[in-house]
Order: sequence, then structure tokens, then C-alpha cells
Amino acid sequence: MRSLVLFGLFATLAAARAAAQAPDGKALFEANCAKCHGSTGRPSPAIKKMFPEIPLYGESFFATRSDADILAVLTNGKGKNMKPWKDRLSADEMTALARYIRSLRP
Ligand code: HEC
Repeated sequence: MRSLVLFGLFATLAAARAAAQAPDGKALFEANCAKCHGSTGRPSPAIKKMFPEIPLYGESFFATRSDADILAVLTNGKGKNMKPWKDRLSADEMTALARYIRSLRP
């Protein structure tokens, strides 16, 4: 009985630890990207004015881009205003971000 309780405790702790280690794509997006891309993936009119080339995320946007395409833009940047993130975010963080933005439906 006691060992069962202990096992349960360890399993819970291990699960909590795994969750804490996986980067949180939503939190990363809010902290680093939402100011330009908008927290729902729709840039504000002011941002559109400043960066006319900024995309609206969504199904049709992601339909034309693979995960590898998105990761390449995150890593190396695109154009003048989408800066590279490779020196500021880890590969795991960029992967979490790529997964998160794909779920946005502005
Ligand atoms: C300073 C404003 C700014 C910030 C901050 C910013 N972006 Fe961008 N982003 C842009 C602009 C402008 C473009 C359009 C680039 C182009 O097409 O020339 C863009 C384009 C993109 C694209 C589309 C690339 C494509 O395939 O056409 C993705 C994906 C993207 N950004 C993700 C992110 C993520 C994730 C973050 C946060 C880590 C982020 N951006 C932060 C301005 C920004």
C-alpha cells in the first residue's frame, strides 16, 4: 500500500517536471512576438502601417508553409523587419513557437 502511494507521488512529480521543462509556446509568443503579430495572430492597424508586409496568420497562411519553413524564418529572419531569433531563443523554444502559432485562428 505504502509503495503504491510513493509510486503515485513519484509519477506525479515526474509529470510536473516534464511539463515545466517543455517551453511554453503561448508565453513565448506573448512575450516576444505579440507586439508585432498581435496576440491572436492579427497585427494591429498601427503595426500594419509600420510593416505593410507583416502577414495575417491563419489556415491559409500556414497551408502554404511547412514547419521547416516557419523554423527557418524564426532562426534566420525574413526581410528587413522580421529579425532572426537564433541568438535569443533556443531550438526547443523556436519549435514550441512554431507549433503554437500554427494553432492561432485570428
Ligand atoms: C518588430 C516586429 C516583429 C516581431 C517582434 C516579430 N515579427 Fe515576425 N514578422 C514581422 C514582419 C514585418 C514579417 C514579414 C516579413 C516579410 O515577409 O518580409 C514577419 C513575418 C513572420 C512570419 C512569416 C514568415 C513567412 O513565411 O512569410 C512568421 C512565421 C513570424 N514572423 C513569426 C514570428 C515569431 C514567432 C516572433 C516572435 C519570436 C516574431 N515573428 C516576432 C515582424 C515581427
